[in-house]
Amino acid sequence: MTWAVVPAAGRGSRFGGERPKQYLSLAGRTLLEHSLRAVLSHDDVDGVMVALSPDDRDWPGWRDLGGKPVLTCIGGAERADSVLAGLQALPGTVSEDQWVLVHDAARPCLRALDLARLLTVGQADPVGALLAAPVRDTLKRADRVGRSQSTEPRDWLWRALTPQLFRRGGLTRALEAALRAGVRVTDEAMAMERLGLKPCLVEGSEDNIKVTTPADLALAEFILAQARA
Ligand code: CTP
Ligand code: MG
Repeated sequence: MTWAVVPAAGRGSRFGGERPKQYLSLAGRTLLEHSLRAVLSHDDVDGVMVALSPDDRDWPGWRDLGGKPVLTCIGGAERADSVLAGLQALPGTVSEDQWVLVHDAARPCLRALDLARLLTVGQADPVGALLAAPVRDTLKRADRVGRSQSTEPRDWLWRALTPQLFRRGGLTRALEAALRAGVRVTDEAMAMERLGLKPCLVEGSEDNIKVTTPADLALAEFILAQARA
């Protein structure tokens, strides 16, 4: 049994605008609905827990999508707090050693094949796995006034994407430990790495973008249209 946790409690401050970006519409559905349907589309995924902001006014009240249960809980101040809240709110039938997928509400373009590969590789891994993409641009280190001081080697550097797949108990303890230590972890893998664990990097499609700014929304619309064609 594998459940998904979708953190959707952010404000979208870099995106701006009236309504949080997860509720913006593209290709006839909200970002959030695309993201939820994408994770629920795999046969191994039994249901989803969505972490919402306490002042969310847009949640449409789904109880199920595609025939699978959709549950909600209240998220927290940072993404990691929302993920932890989601893990804690999962049904008791999801045991400590069962796998949980964590997927950003703001990534509507997840491909079914990437999700399938992540599940296959991750479920066979002692630690767990995440979708990621190798860094392709040349990386510059800036000085304090914004001039290029040096070029960083990009070999061995990856960009972390979601979903990320870890066991419920292990991930809960890793996130709790990071929060206790006051370390602001920006993804699940980072919480595991702090404990000396090495999640498996599964190369995923670069078009699994996180919608952060208005320009990303247009790009996501294009990617979804291509995927349908
Ligand atoms: N998220 C969350 N709880 C938070 C912060 C973020 O559940 N306290 C979620 C967002 O809703 C999003 C995902 O984590 O689906 C990735 O975060 P990000 O892209 O940074 O979204 P926001 O935090 O909403 O955007 P911004 O940082 O620009 O405010
Ligand atoms: Mg954020």
